[in-house]
Amino acid sequence: MSKKVFIRTFGCQMNARDSEVVAGILMDAGYRLSDSADKADVVLFNSCSVRKHAEDRLFGNIAELKGLKKKRPRLVIALMGCTAQNYKHNIFKKAPLVDIVCGPGNEFDLPVLIENFLKTRSRIVAVNKVDKKRPEVSTGYRNAGKTALVSIGEGCNNFCSYCIVPYVRGKERYRDVGDIVREVRDLAACGYKEIMLLGQNVNSYGRTPNSELQTPNFVHLLEALNGIDGIERIKFMTSHPKDASKELFGAIASLEKVCKQLHLPVQSGSDRILKLMSRGYTSKRYLKLVEDYKKMVPGGSITTDILVGFPTETERDFKATYDIMKKIRFNSAFIFKYSPRPPAKAAKMTDDVTRDVKEERHRKLLELQRKISGEGIR
Ligand code: 5AD
Ligand code: SF4
Repeated sequence: MSKKVFIRTFGCQMNARDSEVVAGILMDAGYRLSDSADKADVVLFNSCSVRKHAEDRLFGNIAELKGLKKKRPRLVIALMGCTAQNYKHNIFKKAPLVDIVCGPGNEFDLPVLIENFLKTRSRIVAVNKVDKKRPEVSTGYRNAGKTALVSIGEGCNNFCSYCIVPYVRGKERYRDVGDIVREVRDLAACGYKEIMLLGQNVNSYGRTPNSELQTPNFVHLLEALNGIDGIERIKFMTSHPKDASKELFGAIASLEKVCKQLHLPVQSGSDRILKLMSRGYTSKRYLKLVEDYKKMVPGGSITTDILVGFPTETERDFKATYDIMKKIRFNSAFIFKYSPRPPAKAAKMTDDVTRDVKEERHRKLLELQRKISGEGIR
């Protein structure tokens, strides 16, 4: 009888796509997917480290398996994703029930890792491929849904000071245009009409290891995908304001299949905080980008991410964020409370904005956004 695996995914859509890839790999190796831990031989957690809250939930969920593991000692508990890469061996102190730790670059080895664990019953830590280009995957397994997630690359070179991603996802590396086109053609042949392109910073697609942007770039990729029969809607995320350009907005406006949507995280409206965050733009440059976008893509929507309570954030800094939100009137905004994420650089600063102040600022921005969304976008 084939073994059953239950996959529990935390975090962003990149993680959702990774879980699909791993599900496909395990199914090719003879596993069946299970819809609950109770019925599974292997429970696989795909983890997110971007905020402390996500990590706490993960550890809580793993701890909840204690009873099950006591009842069925042969149950294998594996951890993949960002938290696996971040903690490595140290995860066993935080989550002693874990048997296998597998970093994002090692996920293709999971069937072998599980097999080895079953043979030896000694804990495994596989985290040595964080900067490796992943093997290409064909269409493979996809969760139910109308949108097919398509990863265009891995990693991030930006090192925003609050962010753990560059440490746990490695350096930027991108898939070839031809390979992505092949995958999307396959998806169209399977009946998908909508795709969502995923990358930490899609606008730096095509960047070489020494950071130079060269052809083909992201706009060329969009043009190539726009020509695929059967595909009707192309979405993408995330764009970084420092790399977003008029060329991109022109492509959004002119390529008929590309949805008129832009997710452009601003994080803060204060230039002092943006600098401390190492974001590489000022509020003025961000506002100009939005102005260009609105002009070039009439009726286009714009969404954002905002971080409140970054170390040293004053009422004045916060007011600048409040004001920029009021001015731009985002279609929607994801608003987060800062939490230190070592080894990210800002974790060395004192986390000096109190919990109450973070809560208060968070609440105020949620309220503002609710009002804006309620009133509709002008
Ligand atoms: N604390 C809180 N939120 C964070 N984000 C990234 N790092 C942190 C952190 N240390 C938010 C940013 C990012 C989104 C994906 O998560 O707003 O855009
Ligand atoms: Fe993190 Fe900045 Fe990279 Fe986004 S662009 S993943 S916030 S380092």
